[in-house]
Amino acid sequence: MTDDLKDAESIEAADQKYVMRPWTHPKGEPVIVAKAKGCTVTDVHGKQYLDLTAGYFVNNAGHCHPRIAEAASKQMHEVLQVSGKHGTVATIKLAKKLVELTPKSVDKVFFSTGGSEANEFALKAARQYTKKSDIAYLENGYHGLTLGSLEVTASEKYRESAGKPMGGENYAIPTAYCYRCKFGPHKECNVQCLDGVDKMFDARPNTAAIIAEVVQAVGGLAPPKKWWERLDEIRKARGILLIADEVQTGLGRTGKMFAVEHYGLEPEILTGGKGLSGGVGSLAATLASDAVAKAFFGGTTPTSGGNAVSSAAGYELIRILEDEKLVENAASVGTYFTEAAWALKDPWIGDVRFTGLLGGIELVKNTETREVLGKTEMGKVKDTLHDLGMLITVSGLHGNVLRLQPPLSFTNEMVDQFCAALRKALQTVRGS
Ligand SMILES: Cc1ncc(COP(=O)(O)O)c(C=O)c1O
Repeated sequence: MTDDLKDAESIEAADQKYVMRPWTHPKGEPVIVAKAKGCTVTDVHGKQYLDLTAGYFVNNAGHCHPRIAEAASKQMHEVLQVSGKHGTVATIKLAKKLVELTPKSVDKVFFSTGGSEANEFALKAARQYTKKSDIAYLENGYHGLTLGSLEVTASEKYRESAGKPMGGENYAIPTAYCYRCKFGPHKECNVQCLDGVDKMFDARPNTAAIIAEVVQAVGGLAPPKKWWERLDEIRKARGILLIADEVQTGLGRTGKMFAVEHYGLEPEILTGGKGLSGGVGSLAATLASDAVAKAFFGGTTPTSGGNAVSSAAGYELIRILEDEKLVENAASVGTYFTEAAWALKDPWIGDVRFTGLLGGIELVKNTETREVLGKTEMGKVKDTLHDLGMLITVSGLHGNVLRLQPPLSFTNEMVDQFCAALRKALQTVRGS
């Protein structure tokens, strides 16, 4: 710390003065983190939070895992960065591990630095291979903020940030938001939401690929198995590629190493990022089948694609997930979380959706009508949780979902701690 950044106040003042944060600020944010360990972060004031964001869904084995720190520092004495034009043992080891852990439909890895970038390369590769230009994306889908990835991201709020019209080649197809099903309520789901999709593809014969989060992170939307089976069958019959965006769902988040495993999907392209660097620097990957990889011409390499230190840390992260059985832990703690949240029997809890530790609690004014809880109340719930030492984000199509994605080392006791805070927050806001 330099002399003029000697206390919490001067650090926060310098943050305001020098750091650009072009988005709206909920009360209490940003939290300037001084130290982080496991599932806990401590801010510059010394206040501790249980981190239900895992450092924005990155630190899957918990903050500052000693094995990751050791693997990264060991690598730092060997080689740091040589670019994708050459290679390092660390990067090749990670590529091999990723191919071994993902479906047999993908064979090779292209490294870049962030999830948006990995998706950009996925879109390019799909277009080059199929020689078609159009991309279908799911309503409610999120694939990043760079211009290409933004064009296949559904949210208007984000799309407007481009400052230009979005490309007309890309179009949205229905997603499965079962809690707010347009065709419900019904006793049995017949996947009616996909009834019109064949017609949409008929009108777009130039469709190269569907890009989709297998489980949508915004609000934790996991489609029923038959929804994915039907969409997969339709797209395969038409030779449309599947790009599975596992930037957020990958590396154990959903209680499987990759979310495609829940549905038996075999995408031709799969992207990953976030935790892939073990939280050290930034690393992302575009995996592709041999055929797609062969047709892919990248031009040149992204400068920092496949940093050796990030690769060594990411490889170690995967080994920790395996050794400490954190993927299995995510599955069981996710189930416990679901039960504990429902057990609160709170009149504002409309839906609880956990796939492993990719979780969302949807808050409503009325559980019968499912009217969404208003922005003001949502803000107050988040602020109260924040005051009670719970670091979370708010998400969802209507901004009424508490997004709960802690490190995969989260425990049942921590769930109890969070649920006690949630009970208090909901009661306090309702009473205010
Ligand atoms: C599903 C998904 N895809 C892509 C991205 C973009 O990744 P990045 O922020 O690393 O560019 C994100 C980030 O939140 C994501 O959740």
